[in-house]
Amino acid sequence: MARILLTGGAGFIGSHTAVALLARGHEVALLDNFSNASRSVPPRLKEITRVDCPVHEVDIRDTEAVRQIFAAAAFEAVIHFAALKAVGESEANPLLYFDVNVAGTLSLLTAMRHAGIGRIVFSSSATVYGAPEHCPIAEIAPLHATNIYGRTKLIMEDMIGDLVRTGILSTAFLLRYFNPVGAHPSGLIGEAPCGVPTNLMPYLCQVAARQRDCLTIFGNDYPTPDGTGIRDYLHVMDLAEAHCAAVEVALGTHGTHAVNLGTGTGHSVMELLHAFENTTGIEIPYKIGARRPGDAPSCYADPALAKTMLGWTAKRTLVDMCRDSWRWQFLSAKVK
Ligand code: UD1
Repeated sequence: MARILLTGGAGFIGSHTAVALLARGHEVALLDNFSNASRSVPPRLKEITRVDCPVHEVDIRDTEAVRQIFAAAAFEAVIHFAALKAVGESEANPLLYFDVNVAGTLSLLTAMRHAGIGRIVFSSSATVYGAPEHCPIAEIAPLHATNIYGRTKLIMEDMIGDLVRTGILSTAFLLRYFNPVGAHPSGLIGEAPCGVPTNLMPYLCQVAARQRDCLTIFGNDYPTPDGTGIRDYLHVMDLAEAHCAAVEVALGTHGTHAVNLGTGTGHSVMELLHAFENTTGIEIPYKIGARRPGDAPSCYADPALAKTMLGWTAKRTLVDMCRDSWRWQFLSAKVK
């Protein structure tokens, strides 16, 4: 069993990963500046897991503060989630994204080097494939940034890979997520976007909760069976379990490994909408709008490497994803 620090540990994927790691007997500490995470998350994690894990309210750009955390407890590995992730915001404010994502990662890596921590699992994204030439996408597909957010993910992947190559780190897993959705089945933690959601599932949930009038489908003239965009949605608890597998494999291996995390099956916007309606019994008003600039028609993973390297495959279904997303929305909407 290992002691692991999770940067961005109170966020959507970080908090679910904390649950999964604790369930497997690991020791977990969270680091978060709470810029995009709720302070209600740590007590809710305790309610789910019955474990009171340490929470450090620190910004990863504060190298000295991170060094002090590393000096106070011996961590075997870091899982690095802390980052900004809104495509539009990244184009409007590139310096902010370079600062938080790139300089933040540099600061974290500097503190890790100082503490002699050689293993990192990094929260990357399928966005590094840009507009994919064909699907399913394997890890050897060309890498290409189509926006500043994607560029920062590519730079962070390169920085980490270079530190492994030069022996400063021993092991890195670059986990390229497709479309994480769903929530912990307790309904106590989930995705809580600030302002108007830009991603499909949180927007769908807010329409279902009657917080928004109707969903706009961004284009129905793509070269897909029903004309709407196809993505690889995966349940956040499956994703969390993949992080456990990655960190456990990382403890016994060396080198940099980029690994796709997806189900391998694509679903269209229309399919997701109907699955949500059938699962929840709630009708979703929608209209067809223009294509969103930068959207690929189809994007889904070849998840074969995750199976061979990590022994991991996604198990939860689209129905699980819709049910758990809605349960979280329903319960959290009540407490708001
Ligand atoms: C988006 C980002 C991607 C980022 C990912 C996770 C863009 C161009 N891409 O990916 O870089 O890594 O989120 O944060 O922003 N859709 C609608 N109506 C909506 C919202 C979405 O029809 O209100 C459609 C989209 O056109 C797409 C699908 O739903 O076909 C999924 O969209 P989204 O959840 O934003 O994910 P990605 O486009 O895969």
